[in-house]
Amino acid sequence: MLSLCIQVLAVLVVCAADIENRDISYTFKAWNMVDQPLQEHFAVMYKEMESLKLEQAVMKQKQEALSQALPYCSQKPIDTDVEMNKTSLQTDSSRLLYTLTQGEDGVEGSGEDDSDEARDPCNHYSVLNQAWRATNYSNKNVVCDRRVQWKGWYRLFYHGKTIQMPERCVKKEMCGTHSPLWLVGGHPRIRDGVVTRKVCGNWKNNCCLFKSPPIQVKACRGNYYVYKFVKPVACQLAYCADINSLVCGKCKRSESCISRDKVTWMCKKNKMRVKANIHFFATYPASISGKMNKIVYRKVFVNQGRAFNARTGIFRAPVSGVYQFFFSTQTGGRGATNLWLVVNNYWVALSHSNVQGSNSVGNLSTYMATLRKGATVYVTHNRGRSWANSASNTISFGGSLLMVRKI
Ligand SMILES: *[C@@H]1O[C@H](CO)[C@@H](O)[C@H](O)[C@H]1NC(C)=O
Ligand SMILES: *[C@@H]1O[C@H](CO)[C@@H](O)[C@H](O)[C@H]1NC(C)=O
Ligand SMILES: *[C@@H]1O[C@H](CO)[C@@H](O)[C@H](O)[C@H]1NC(C)=O
Repeated sequence: MLSLCIQVLAVLVVCAADIENRDISYTFKAWNMVDQPLQEHFAVMYKEMESLKLEQAVMKQKQEALSQALPYCSQKPIDTDVEMNKTSLQTDSSRLLYTLTQGEDGVEGSGEDDSDEARDPCNHYSVLNQAWRATNYSNKNVVCDRRVQWKGWYRLFYHGKTIQMPERCVKKEMCGTHSPLWLVGGHPRIRDGVVTRKVCGNWKNNCCLFKSPPIQVKACRGNYYVYKFVKPVACQLAYCADINSLVCGKCKRSESCISRDKVTWMCKKNKMRVKANIHFFATYPASISGKMNKIVYRKVFVNQGRAFNARTGIFRAPVSGVYQFFFSTQTGGRGATNLWLVVNNYWVALSHSNVQGSNSVGNLSTYMATLRKGATVYVTHNRGRSWANSASNTISFGGSLLMVRKI
């Protein structure tokens, strides 16, 4: 304690002269009129984002209602008006149909036999590499999947590239058959595991005139699906491959293939899973004089969630929510000392001290705000003198996520 005071005094003596006559009035720099248009601009953007989100939710609801309302028509006698050209799938595809003996994703080595890995259909499927199944292929040769002895799981390919079943009605007489089969209710997510999905065949302007037996589907790591195909209800019916979903095979592992309209597909980065425990506390181990744009608090005591960057001094909100911050200094000199908390480049909170005579005072300021994911927070030293040494921890910055909140 004694040594601290001595050091403070030493600083004071050195600096007293040039501080003495300085004007210590200061102006508030936060939210001035210049910032106003930007603020409004942000407000409009946020509103737009909200309405987009709403739209998306409504569309999803509609889609769910639609898939439930789809008439699951009672079945016509098999093989009536679509029994025409019979081409044997078996002879056509015997070369193309084979079983993978090893997991395609390079699942290594031994210990398979009873493990889940070995039983996982994502690693054990048959390849169905038949270009005529594509939704843009007409029925030059008409195929009936009812004639196939389906066994186990299958993965669809188009000229060797991974492809998936259509999630919407396909025009009749496409996919190399008369009534193309499509997947009702969409594909599952990885965390859904194996799901059962209805399969419909389009005919006579009825997207589900043929209610084929349901199949099992599983989403696999690496953006592909496996299907447990079964004999369709009639001839000529065949499982389709959505040519528009070819793009999905190009998605990275960190991406998902999505489509709003089930027509156009695209890769989208997966939402990062964030830890909701965010706490940090760091200090600056030396004195600061005058302006320092970003105080680089390089002595980090707590950095739970790694949202604080000790190299830059910037805290970045990893998730939307309510945050609390605090920052402190120990004024070491006569005159005004200003530290500002800077949120998204706005100066939002001030720690101001004005010391008379040879005093030294500590000052702690706090701030609480609801921040969006990605918001930046740091402290700027705008004027005056802040005293600290490597052991004092007087110039400090810390904060916590109080609650996660979607905004
Ligand atoms: C179907 O689409 C693929 C990929 O876009 C294309 O290469 C192919 O020529 C198309 N086939 C037909 C019959 O249009
Ligand atoms: C299908 O049958 C019709 C007549 O029933 C015939 O004209 C046509 O060539 C056949 N198509 C194929 C691909 O065999
Ligand atoms: C500490 O900071 C607050 C807010 O800026 C200020 O009102 C107060 O006067 C300061 N305390 C001292 C002792 O300077």
